[in-house]
Amino acid sequence: MVKFPFTTKPSSLVMFVTVIVLGVVVFYSLHFPHGATSSLDASRFRHVFISSASNATIASYLRALTVHPHLAGTQPASLTARYVLNHFNSLGLRTKTVKHRALLSYPVRSSLVAHFSDGTSQEFRMTEAEAEGDGVVAAYHAYSPSGTAVAAAVFVNYGREEDFRELAAAGVEVAGCVAVARGGGGVARGAVVEAAERAGAAAVVVFGEGDTWREGFERGHVMRGGIGDPLSPGWGGVEGGESLRLEDSEVLKRFPKIPSMPLSAEAAERILASLGGAPLPLDWRTTLKSSKVRSVGPGPTILNFTYQGEMKVATIENVFAIIKGREEPDRYVLLGNHRDAWTYGAVDPNSGTAALLDIARRYSILLRLGWTPRRTIILCSWDAEEFGMIGSTEWVEQNLVNLRSKAVAYLNVDCAVQGPGLFAGSTPQLDDFLLEVTKKVKDPDSEGTIYENWAAAGGNSNIQRLGRVDSDFAPFLQHAGIPSIDLYFGKDYPVYHTAFDSYGWMTKYGDPFFQRHVAVSGIWGLLALHLADDSTIPFNYLSYANQLQVYNNILSNLIDKRISLNPLNTSIQEFASAAKEVNDESKKLRFQGTSDRSIDMKMRALNDRLMLAEKGFLDADGLQGRQWFKHLVFGPPSDHESKLDFFPGIVDSMSEMVKMSEKERLAAIQHEIWRITRAIQRAASALRGDSA
Ligand SMILES: *[C@@H]1O[C@H](CO)[C@@H](O)[C@H](O)[C@H]1NC(C)=O
Ligand SMILES: *[C@@H]1O[C@H](CO)[C@@H](O)[C@H](O)[C@H]1NC(C)=O
Ligand SMILES: *[C@@H]1O[C@H](CO)[C@@H](O)[C@H](O)[C@H]1NC(C)=O
Repeated sequence: MVKFPFTTKPSSLVMFVTVIVLGVVVFYSLHFPHGATSSLDASRFRHVFISSASNATIASYLRALTVHPHLAGTQPASLTARYVLNHFNSLGLRTKTVKHRALLSYPVRSSLVAHFSDGTSQEFRMTEAEAEGDGVVAAYHAYSPSGTAVAAAVFVNYGREEDFRELAAAGVEVAGCVAVARGGGGVARGAVVEAAERAGAAAVVVFGEGDTWREGFERGHVMRGGIGDPLSPGWGGVEGGESLRLEDSEVLKRFPKIPSMPLSAEAAERILASLGGAPLPLDWRTTLKSSKVRSVGPGPTILNFTYQGEMKVATIENVFAIIKGREEPDRYVLLGNHRDAWTYGAVDPNSGTAALLDIARRYSILLRLGWTPRRTIILCSWDAEEFGMIGSTEWVEQNLVNLRSKAVAYLNVDCAVQGPGLFAGSTPQLDDFLLEVTKKVKDPDSEGTIYENWAAAGGNSNIQRLGRVDSDFAPFLQHAGIPSIDLYFGKDYPVYHTAFDSYGWMTKYGDPFFQRHVAVSGIWGLLALHLADDSTIPFNYLSYANQLQVYNNILSNLIDKRISLNPLNTSIQEFASAAKEVNDESKKLRFQGTSDRSIDMKMRALNDRLMLAEKGFLDADGLQGRQWFKHLVFGPPSDHESKLDFFPGIVDSMSEMVKMSEKERLAAIQHEIWRITRAIQRAASALRGDSA
């Protein structure tokens, strides 16, 4: 292996890569006559794509992106937009920057002082010591209201509804107190604040547990009720366009009523260890990392909590590179990653950005060799994801009709590399295809391919589903009904959203040789090449039918026997037979080849059915009370604590959080079952492609 002196001499790296690229170009131009890309050529181009991987270029992009913190809406953030744009331009790709106006939120002043029962006090630092003076934003919760509370501290465990119930049962009064919650209980930060608010807490601090990096603060937003810019709910926020006012009730309901801030594990331990009052429940103690905590309070420690923030309408920038398709320019394959970061963003999100930039570099090599994709490929670099998927959501809202009717798939990568081991999520028609692609990529941490070590062990049971709203696939899938994939290596990394998420951390812990970055860009780039070049789109809806059947079976064990699941079961059978039909047709067409124009039209018609079937799961009325979420199979339930990650409408109707009589509840659940039944019938009908 060649060793690059890239850290000291970036220019020699550039020269080296240029030489390699030119060599490859010369070699392949001898072997590829110019002209239309046949499927044989397409496979050779994929081979060039794989062999042009380079960990050194990825490392250099990541270094450049993470020199400064680049929080959305700030000057350094717009420098990263320019960096990405220049990179795409320098490769000769067609580019576009789309700006949006959106409401962001920043801290102005914050402090936390503990007054202990022995008369002593301690003021805690509200940001990492290492970060001060380097432009890292102070630790805060975006969209928290400003506020002060001087009140007794009380420990509320993970801040879930069940934790508050347990406290209430033990006679612990949370109302009026400053709640101290630990993160990581499987509920979103915003949901913790919401539950504390319901319990009457005056303010909340949330700390991240961990054995290492105990001085870190986990920043994050606490917006509720949906994603995207609060001032333009449902439409793309643009300069000169309609914008709600900050005092409008529709805007205000997106923000918590009580203030909150993050806290370091170190500071939290000091506070919790000083509490008296009710004893710590046994099941909380067993999972708590600190052994110094004995009681939950409230008090006697009094916390003086102060947070002052400001909301600002800012300009955010989404940057695109477009590789126009030759045969089907009006069909899009989208690769997306956000660029904005709470701090330096080496993991979150710029490990993904570095991978995206390297895919652009490698695609540009293919272009110089004469490749043009069959369909259009769009590389998307989103802004303001950390504030609630704002950049991607505004863009999806603005381009909804085109995306719904023309986007083949959306491939998301956020925190590309957090550590070892592939994790992937997808909509089920992409399962088999995703597994296939992992056969082509070398495992960065052991011998063999990723498939051998990852997929072979569990088949598609390894693949997660995308009902969450924690990255940019959410608007594409849950609002626009576009089949989606999400990829990352490693999970639960300890420096999440802290000032320690830096290039140094990545080279020391996350990916010392950048081989995991190479692997993720390999899978990501290959997925897109197939989706853009394969004559028939590689979807298998039988996997979707199987997944729906599994959901049906889970429900049948869970649901009141007076409720009928027959309609749902029948619609799934119907969907499965449509899936089988379309698979058979697709196989037949593939055998006939692509030379003939009438066959081309048949393929296009078949591909349209495959592409549009996912839209069947959308419902014009959306989820009840959260109409923006249109997908009835995958979406976030209101009941954050539900263990079910499918059929959010059914989950909500079953939730104890909504009070109703038994009769009303049975009717509500049955109605939701009918709605999902009709959605599956629509999808089946779209797959069959007949309207009569
Ligand atoms: C609480 O802290 C704030 C900000 O540091 C300070 O202005 C205020 O006087 C403190 N209040 C009490 C009761 O200590
Ligand atoms: C690239 O990978 C090789 C082989 O693992 C390694 O020796 C080299 O240090 C890596 N380069 C970077 C920049 O990590
Ligand atoms: C669904 O229908 C199939 C075929 O009619 C039947 O075999 C199966 O038991 C049904 N499943 C449930 C959960 O009702």
